[in-house]
Amino acid sequence: MSIDVAAANAVLAGLRPFPVAVTSVDGDFVNGLMSLSAGAASIVPELPRATVSLTKYNRTHDMLVNSGVFAMHMLSAGEDEIDKSLEILMTLGGSSGRDGDKISKLRTKRGVTGAPILLDAHSYVECRITGSLDNEENTIFVGDVVAAEVFSSAKRLQIGPAWAKLPPEWIERYEANHEPQLQHARDLRAAAARQS
Ligand SMILES: Cc1cc2nc3c(=O)[nH]c(=O)nc-3n(C[C@H](O)[C@H](O)[C@H](O)COP(=O)(O)O)c2cc1C
Repeated sequence: MSIDVAAANAVLAGLRPFPVAVTSVDGDFVNGLMSLSAGAASIVPELPRATVSLTKYNRTHDMLVNSGVFAMHMLSAGEDEIDKSLEILMTLGGSSGRDGDKISKLRTKRGVTGAPILLDAHSYVECRITGSLDNEENTIFVGDVVAAEVFSSAKRLQIGPAWAKLPPEWIERYEANHEPQLQHARDLRAAAARQS
């Protein structure tokens, strides 16, 4: 099958502009990552659901599989709050929980599911997973919202303005760390293609 990859990526780029911080708990270990895959997943307003897609390379992925719970936080674009938002983004998105604790660097409380709630986030929903879809290199999780809070009245941070404020050294490190993740995804996709 031959596709116009540039056209496909032009259609798909930027569909989900809000970076979210996804946290979870597995036994005694709490952790989290950044994601640009979050969405609402129910048309029933009184029964809200959320969805997020995590790459299998990431430790948080396995924590959602094992625990069945996650918290998904929006970040704030507010003038007095954006520095904390960037700190969350850089802390959770810049390294892996495989290499050590990230969460204790951030202000948290324990949520009703046991997942850590980031107190400097804009807002959050906490979810119990109702279903998941395995796609070789990632899993799309859907969960019932079991708790929610809004901490800030400011606008929610979008990735464009956030990226423009990140230090170039952090972006360079992030891009280097992203390479093995990308290769792992390609390897899993190739292995699945060989089996089919
Ligand atoms: C803006 C941004 C968006 C990201 N989106 C995703 C995503 O949708 N899914 C995912 O699995 N990782 C995503 N990542 C990568 C993870 O946040 C990153 O690999 C993290 O270090 C994984 O940590 P962990 O191994 O502790 O789970 C994103 C990172 C950034 C900075």
